[in-house]
Amino acid sequence: MDVLVPGYEFQELISEGGCARVFKAVRIRDKKHVAIKVITQASLDRGDLKLFESEAKLLSKLDHPNIIKFIEYVKSKPRPCYAMELFVSATLRWCVKNTWEFVQTHRYTIVDQIVKSIHYLHSQGIIHRDIKPENILVDGNANVRLIDLSLARKKDTGFLGKLFEDKRIQGSPPYMAPEQIRGESVDERTDIYSLGITVYLTLSGQMPYDKPRSDDDCLKAHLYEKPVEIKSVCPDVHPSLGKAIMKALEKKPGSRQQTILEFLRALTVASSSAELPAVHKPGNQARPAL
Ligand SMILES: Nc1ncnc2c1ncn2[C@@H]1O[C@H](COP(=O)(O)OP(=O)(O)OP(=O)(O)O)[C@@H](O)[C@H]1O
Ligand SMILES: [Mg+2]
Repeated sequence: MDVLVPGYEFQELISEGGCARVFKAVRIRDKKHVAIKVITQASLDRGDLKLFESEAKLLSKLDHPNIIKFIEYVKSKPRPCYAMELFVSATLRWCVKNTWEFVQTHRYTIVDQIVKSIHYLHSQGIIHRDIKPENILVDGNANVRLIDLSLARKKDTGFLGKLFEDKRIQGSPPYMAPEQIRGESVDERTDIYSLGITVYLTLSGQMPYDKPRSDDDCLKAHLYEKPVEIKSVCPDVHPSLGKAIMKALEKKPGSRQQTILEFLRALTVASSSAELPAVHKPGNQARPAL
């Protein structure tokens, strides 16, 4: 580890991405185990320091049981980092691929926690802009934490905010809403679209635009293709939730749920009327195709 963070002892690398590395570490004064996210040199060279600072600043203001807890920002040398709660877990993406039965057993509670974390973000005027299973952590008891506010933005930043807004089109192609792809303005409904795809995958093990695809194909699919009806890949989905998922995937923001609460209501209906969650058997058409 080439970054020195006073007061912390690094233990191991958890993840290495283009913009950041995440490490396990121990805070020396109280032996607390934490996760430390360090910006990469490549990201600094791209001029992304402001974005990294903004990610830490946004996270520091949040307090919700399903959003990772911020600890502190450190101007470490040669690159800054921030410490946060260490959540021993795997990404939802990993869980869908490797622990399918576990995800199916807990599907409503997992989705409920994701939706509540986004509801809280929106109530704070924040749009996440990168909702996807890779940014959702799940532990062995099906507790959920939303992470990675690197693309998140305050909604009403006014004229000055707009002037300084990063104009690059950003997001993850398999989960991007049409307006995000077009570089148009984004709002809560953009997160609702990405949530719709995330929930679709969590319940069915499949993406709404099937077949393995390149990023370019994904973007075209969001813009022009009709998603596969969730009922056909997950026949036991509760009708209320199935309808909500398909509505979240509408191309036009105006045709989706206008607030996340609408989605939450459909989920509540589904989970309160569910008997024991049905688990797709191995070999069933709805097995994960990741
Ligand atoms: N608080 C945490 N506790 C445990 N693991 C974490 C924590 N935060 C992140 N991770 C792990 O690190 C991975 C990457 O984290 P994150 O999504 O924040 O960074 P990234 O996607 O690489 O960064 P960016 O999108 O900013 O380039 C996560 O998928 C998860 O495996
Ligand atoms: Mg991420």
